[in-house]
Amino acid sequence: MAQTFDVIVIGSGPAGYIAAIRAAQLGLKTACVEEWRNPTGELALGGTCLNVGCIPSKALLESSEQYEHALQGLADHGIAVTGAKVDLAKMLARKDGIVAKMTKGIETLFRKNKIQWLKGHGRFTGKGAAGWQIEVSGATVETVEGKAVIVATGSKARHLPGLPVDQEMVCDNVGALAFRDVPSRLGVIGAGVIGLELGSVWRRLGAKVVILEALPNFLGVADDSVAKEAWKIFTKEQGLDIRLGVKIGKVDVGKKGVVLGYEQDGQAEKLECDRLIVSIGRVPNTDGLGAESVGLKIDARGFIEVDDHCRTNLANVFAIGDVVRGPMLAHKGEEEGVMAAELIAGQKGHVNLETIPWVIYTSPEIAWVGKTEQQLKAEGVPYRAGQFPFSINGRALGHGDTHGFVKMLAHQRTDEILGVHIINTHASELIAEAVVAMEFRASAEDIARIVHAHPSLSEVTHEAALAVDKRSLNM
Ligand code: FAD
Ligand code: NAI
Repeated sequence: MAQTFDVIVIGSGPAGYIAAIRAAQLGLKTACVEEWRNPTGELALGGTCLNVGCIPSKALLESSEQYEHALQGLADHGIAVTGAKVDLAKMLARKDGIVAKMTKGIETLFRKNKIQWLKGHGRFTGKGAAGWQIEVSGATVETVEGKAVIVATGSKARHLPGLPVDQEMVCDNVGALAFRDVPSRLGVIGAGVIGLELGSVWRRLGAKVVILEALPNFLGVADDSVAKEAWKIFTKEQGLDIRLGVKIGKVDVGKKGVVLGYEQDGQAEKLECDRLIVSIGRVPNTDGLGAESVGLKIDARGFIEVDDHCRTNLANVFAIGDVVRGPMLAHKGEEEGVMAAELIAGQKGHVNLETIPWVIYTSPEIAWVGKTEQQLKAEGVPYRAGQFPFSINGRALGHGDTHGFVKMLAHQRTDEILGVHIINTHASELIAEAVVAMEFRASAEDIARIVHAHPSLSEVTHEAALAVDKRSLNM
């Protein structure tokens, strides 16, 4: 007799493991299918985010930033440091330790919530008396049945046709988080989030980094004024060499390096590097899911089709996280996981995709929520903008990092906040206030009338809100 469950979750990334925990909390008998193996061959929970994404990248971003700060950031404080050196093996071991702690933590949470981890590859095979049949192929092959199924199979790096990724000379995010030595010359294809974050890591550790980007404009997803400021800081101050509007041509991969032919402004160019990172976006994981055997609808780009509540075309089958539309962000998938579990349990659930915060963990960080100024213009929405710099904020001066600003966009008539854009070292933390405000449909005046601690970086958000009404107090 097949084991039966109220809910079977396929995939244990941030979307899947959170969905499983919420389902179990609501009293549903829950299993989670996961096949991920880490480089030592051990099965691991946590998906891309914990194993080769958010968590290891942030560990390396922090270590490399500390190193750069020790080299360049302390002299102004009157602190002289000599002999700062990188022990890369130790840095990588620290990162691996954080990953292990986090992924083992999910195993503990599964045990605590009595969630059964079905180890292996899961795929739909049909419908049985107790629900959807999922075949799990691991050490053995077993078929289980679930009244409801949540597909959370995530995404993988998109590769360039004809350029195989060997994770040695040509890497995606997996190899790029584990170089055993710092390459002298690092090439990166794609100036998106991964290109900028991992390009920054290896540049700080000593690599000469060249990023080749297909689009003619830089960081088109961000607000134009933030993208402009970031461009100035990354290229002029930090020395990231970002080349826009390129068309990648022939790539020769040898034992000692990579030679990349490309075209820019109609000119044939060449880039020689020791290693190459390909970071040109991600594609959803739907191969081998058995979607066709049950008629699960997948769109032309490979995403599982869902409605606003992550319901697929099949009864009691939900899909969440990177495998469906919307931003490929861990916290977006997590909230969809909570929603799907609550809907299965007969509760109400909702995720507002309009208030998902974005953060790019460069230095300074870039964070935003809501619409950019260029989007409002394109949509013909009347707005007012308020902007305030960190350069005259007492706390930022004390930190010794005065880069960037907060920009607030509010509806011209109603004053409702439509977007907040921050570029600053602590933007990832500062954005939370803006997300709460937008979720409660606050006006710029609401933020302007709220007391912000002094001295704090959040005073810049306060001043940006005042600036919407042209009444900043400190400028
Ligand atoms: P995933 O995390 O991809 O997990 C899917 C899981 O499903 C995997 O473990 C996979 O093995 C498993 N699976 C797939 N198919 C099957 C199957 N048929 N049977 C069994 N198991 C299966 N996002 C942020 O919000 N903040 C960040 O700072 C951030 N940094 C990132 C840095 C990097 C380098 C990368 C690559 C991504 C980063 N992201 C970040 C994006 C984030 O990692 C993803 O949005 C998130 O992991 C998506 O979660 P998910 O649960 O949908 O899928
Ligand atoms: P991305 O979509 O952020 O950027 C890809 C870049 O590559 C784009 O600028 C695109 O124009 C460019 N590109 C595409 N094809 C190209 C080609 N042939 N030649 C040159 N350039 C090309 O994708 P990325 O950086 O791979 O990251 C994937 C996703 O992972 C992100 O979109 C994000 O959802 C998630 N992520 C989130 C992070 C965060 O939240 N801090 C960190 C890292 C990743």
